[in-house]
Amino acid sequence: MYIFFSFLITGILFLIALLGSRNPFIFGIVIPYAAIALFIIGVIHRVVKWARSPVPFRWPTTAGQQKSLPWIKANNLESPYNIWGVLGRMLLEILFFRSLFRNTKVELRKDTHITYGNNKYLWLGAMAFHWSFLIIILRHFRFFTEPVIRFVNWLQTVDGILEINVPVLYITDVIIVIALIYLLIRRITNYQVRYISLASDYFPLFLLLTIAGTGIWMRYFDKVDIIKVKELALGLVSLNPTIPGGIGSIFYIHLFFVSVLIAYFPFSKLMHMAGVFFSPTRNLVNNNRAKRHINPWNPDVKVHTYQEWEDEFRDKIKTAGLPLEKK
Ligand code: HEM
Repeated sequence: MYIFFSFLITGILFLIALLGSRNPFIFGIVIPYAAIALFIIGVIHRVVKWARSPVPFRWPTTAGQQKSLPWIKANNLESPYNIWGVLGRMLLEILFFRSLFRNTKVELRKDTHITYGNNKYLWLGAMAFHWSFLIIILRHFRFFTEPVIRFVNWLQTVDGILEINVPVLYITDVIIVIALIYLLIRRITNYQVRYISLASDYFPLFLLLTIAGTGIWMRYFDKVDIIKVKELALGLVSLNPTIPGGIGSIFYIHLFFVSVLIAYFPFSKLMHMAGVFFSPTRNLVNNNRAKRHINPWNPDVKVHTYQEWEDEFRDKIKTAGLPLEKK
């Protein structure tokens, strides 16, 4: 049900883009700027909300020996005890999805036995998608910079190293499509994942597939005037927008779906991109033994210390001949 709903929404958006692409002013300037404004406001709102959440204790997830007595070997990566441990752990998480690498699958066998197995496919699919997505976005900087940054040219050369086809086929174009299709098929065919999947899980996949699909279509089949695209892109980033006529409508469809993705980003699960940096189970030092963390909003508890009790009953204790701590 959810998948059909997401598919339908994507289809309707496609129709809107197809019809609207005849109006370059709206689809080339107004919608991209509105999407960016929504993105900035939405992301700031959510990040500020997260940043203001109190984190009074240290609760990192640990998978190794924490720092303890000097002769016990501590594992700074699995149970970080200083900033270097946290940095190393965060970098491995953000760049290589280390916790996902440890992902396991649970299966109920026919003989009703539950089995836990190794499962690296999700990790592989996620890595393939995220890395190719990043490389594609970095390559797109050729539209937004003049002169083009050397690193972007280098990326283009490496990505097109197979030198197949004219224009040359980018490896990341193939990988991103395969990875997205794998992630979608997994969601549909794995009944456990399908059971917990919502429209908000399918919709980003359809959005990304449409962006990649229209981009690939534009590059290899229905070519657009790249010089004019660059003129438009430079106009947008320099806040001096212009609409050069004659860019094919496929470009405006591509740009519209990119705008939808950007506008939808802060309100969706895609915010995990920023959220990972705020994840207390990952970004905290596990120094609970070395340092006492006191909850800052604990109420002041009125306690009655032994010293106060002794002072209160001093005479009686003395008369009874019982020992006193304070003479
Ligand atoms: C989320 C952001 C975006 C994604 C994921 C994306 C994805 C893609 C992909 C996969 C391609 C196929 C060719 C290639 O890999 O270079 C492509 C091509 C293209 N994209 Fe995007 N795109 C994005 C944003 C944009 C934006 C903002 C523009 C506006 C300037 C744009 C303009 C183009 C153009 C003109 C092509 C054709 C390139 C060529 O013929 O070499 N894209 N895009």
